[in-house]
Amino acid sequence: MTVETVGTFAHLAEEIAREAGEMLLAKRPARPEVLATKSSPTDVVTALDRASEELIRARIKAVRPDDAILGEEGGSTGGGRVRWIVDPIDGTVNFLYGLPDWAVSIAVEVDGEVVAGVVNVVPRGEVFTAAKGEGAWLAGERLHCNTGVPLNRALIATGFGYEVGRRKVQAEVLTHVVPRVRDIRRAGSAAADLCSVAAGRVDGYYERGPQAWDYAAGGLVATEAGARLGGLNGRPANPELTLCAAPGLFEELHELLVPLNPERDA
Ligand code: IPD
Ligand code: CA
Ligand code: CA
Ligand code: CA
Repeated sequence: MTVETVGTFAHLAEEIAREAGEMLLAKRPARPEVLATKSSPTDVVTALDRASEELIRARIKAVRPDDAILGEEGGSTGGGRVRWIVDPIDGTVNFLYGLPDWAVSIAVEVDGEVVAGVVNVVPRGEVFTAAKGEGAWLAGERLHCNTGVPLNRALIATGFGYEVGRRKVQAEVLTHVVPRVRDIRRAGSAAADLCSVAAGRVDGYYERGPQAWDYAAGGLVATEAGARLGGLNGRPANPELTLCAAPGLFEELHELLVPLNPERDA
């Protein structure tokens, strides 16, 4: 994979994420309506989650008709070496309430490796971009995560899934984490949380239950800013647990979370 190819993917992903963001800003009603629910009554979808994904899929297909696409609302389509991983609105609950942390997240994976990632945090007008080996960027500035922060001084972002059983365990885990860190932030968008790690706005992030569309693009932004991204016991980031922080803090956070038995909510 050449630098040019990776750059082309990153540019295309950015163009599409910006277009979807403009559409969402233009069409977001003052009070968006819930169209359907998914895993629980609080796991909501609006018409614009679907419209955003349709726009993104149409733009990808127009230029790269043979690529696979995995999207939160449209599932998995196509095959081949290149796969686009799309969250059309990450932070739908924030979108619903008019809170400023929701994002369009688009990643491009080649042979199973994420090589480009864009997170457009639309209400904040912030477009985070990353290309494998080329760094993470925001508004022309290269991003670097915080380093050398011990766990007991770390500001940690986290999130909670929508399924009731999973949330109970997440709440229990939180009771172990809160006394051991500086503080916790729950912004409501996993993709934006990972970009916050990249920008040094928080020191780390962990979550049980996020899906590839939540962490693929933001994960590359964070790792290109110097963070480590992974799961439990050397596994890659995955829905069981996704962890992200600078090396050192990553290991401390992992050590804290590993005995908390994530299999209980599987
Ligand atoms: C959710 C957000 C949230 C995270 C949840 C995700 P959605 O995505 O990223 O921060 O805690 O796990 O499901 O449903 O708003 O796209
Ligand atoms: Ca999401
Ligand atoms: Ca979503
Ligand atoms: Ca969702």
